[in-house]
Amino acid sequence: MTHDGGTPPRGPVTAEWWQSAVIYQVYPRSFTDGNGDGVGDLAGLIARLPYIASLGVDGVWLTPFQPSPQVDQGYDVSDYCGVDPLFGTMEDFDRLLDLAHSLGLRILLDVVPNHCSSAHPLFQEALAAGPGSPERELFHFVEGRSSSPDSRSDLPPNNWQSVFGGRAWSRANPDSETDTEWYLHLFSAGQPDWNWRNPAVGDYFENVLRFWFDKGVDGLRIDVAHALFKTDGLPDAPSESPVVDGLRSNPLVSDQEEVHEVYRRWRRLAEKYQPHRLLVGEVNLEPARAARYTRRDEMHQAFAFAFVRLGWDAATWAEVGTELEAARKLHGAAPTWALENHDIVRSANRFGSAELGARRARAALVALLGLPGSAYIYQGQELGLPEVDVPVAARVDPMWARGGVTRDGARVPLPWTQDAALTHGFTLQEPAADSAVAPWLPVPAGWGDYAVDLQEQDPGSLLATVKDAVALRRRLWEDGLFTADDGGTWRVEAGNLLLCERSPHFLVAVAMGTEPVKPPAGVVLFSAFPLAEDGWLQPGNAAWIRRN
Ligand code: GLC
Repeated sequence: MTHDGGTPPRGPVTAEWWQSAVIYQVYPRSFTDGNGDGVGDLAGLIARLPYIASLGVDGVWLTPFQPSPQVDQGYDVSDYCGVDPLFGTMEDFDRLLDLAHSLGLRILLDVVPNHCSSAHPLFQEALAAGPGSPERELFHFVEGRSSSPDSRSDLPPNNWQSVFGGRAWSRANPDSETDTEWYLHLFSAGQPDWNWRNPAVGDYFENVLRFWFDKGVDGLRIDVAHALFKTDGLPDAPSESPVVDGLRSNPLVSDQEEVHEVYRRWRRLAEKYQPHRLLVGEVNLEPARAARYTRRDEMHQAFAFAFVRLGWDAATWAEVGTELEAARKLHGAAPTWALENHDIVRSANRFGSAELGARRARAALVALLGLPGSAYIYQGQELGLPEVDVPVAARVDPMWARGGVTRDGARVPLPWTQDAALTHGFTLQEPAADSAVAPWLPVPAGWGDYAVDLQEQDPGSLLATVKDAVALRRRLWEDGLFTADDGGTWRVEAGNLLLCERSPHFLVAVAMGTEPVKPPAGVVLFSAFPLAEDGWLQPGNAAWIRRN
């Protein structure tokens, strides 16, 4: 909902593009299937790139499409500089990059430096080379512990647990009497961790970065960025809490000082290119620790994960917002906002049930787009897709298989058409022969209600609201009402009205209580839903307010 009220200019635009950027995250498997095999691919993405451009966003972050056994849906990479045939060819990728650039969209790729696939040739060579070999020094191969004098190395080297559940170690060669080493994998057994204390690993990744930067890729999202270095000596974690704990603030496993040198090196490399390449990190740490990764000579951005974990609660939003602001003041980088990604339960479900959750998710997204800093939107979030309860038999997430929660519910193919044919337009081409190929994850009944073609015709749809918000946000940057120096002063007023003052001239208000609230004085430039007749915000509405 755009409201009246022009915006006075407030100074020249000095920001770098990424400081104001809205980036759209594409999970290629579930975006569009170009060849009818049930899995989304680069051809499908190329065909629907104009849709992404129509959102008005600045770029696309593409999760992995490189060759992979797909144990973790591509986060187990066996060739960092290729394209998995499941997704297409390198020619497809080159076409995608050209088309994106011609549409004014930047392309960010995922780089996965913490681990590779157990099918990666260097890991295979390490397995074959045996204990004590230099090949094994690229990974964490360690002699196991023994439960008794006669059972050599029958226990893993330490008590660390995998993020996905179960132990973080597997035997290198379970059938061998002589090879008694285990290898470390913070995720599944198909994802061995690189040993970043070996300088050869850093050199290897520098070449990977060069390969994609030379091609013209605009930046990288860095997977599990804080975990590359483990505590020297790989000591046991305290027995009461031996798990890696989602990698959050566990100084025993991750967030080691040495990792920062990696990002300084990558930043230097990124800045050798024109335009500079962008680095955005998945740094799943508390604000004060995460902010250390965005010091001026490290990454440009790190997702505000503390915010992603919040429910619908004004006090905790204000608390976390204040922490993020303190971190910004210390290290200079504004927060990088996201409410959803391919690992997280959809926001509509996190914020409440059915209609209430959907309403709040829309308000939260509108609020987010008005906050100071860059914002990332996950595919389908602009349609208000809810989390899907994927039938147990259809679940493929390795986290689920290892005893954790399933992330499949946020990865269901997008509905493009209300009509159910070709899985609501997810598939562009009839499958070959008469074998109807089901999508890799089933879509639920009623999926067409969220379809792009329906929402495109409705000016009140979430899709239309997102487009309007992104367009207005751009105008406010151009006019100088939004600047890169904006901060975030957070507070909660009576009736659980959450306020974030981004400058003396602009604030975001979210009605998080159960009663209507009067917005603060000023001109309402935009709101997630129409205001009540008296100008008040109904519960679950959010507004952008200009103050003179
Ligand atoms: C990141 C990815 C997630 C993946 C994990 C291991 O958290 O976002 O999908 O499973 O890293 O690579």
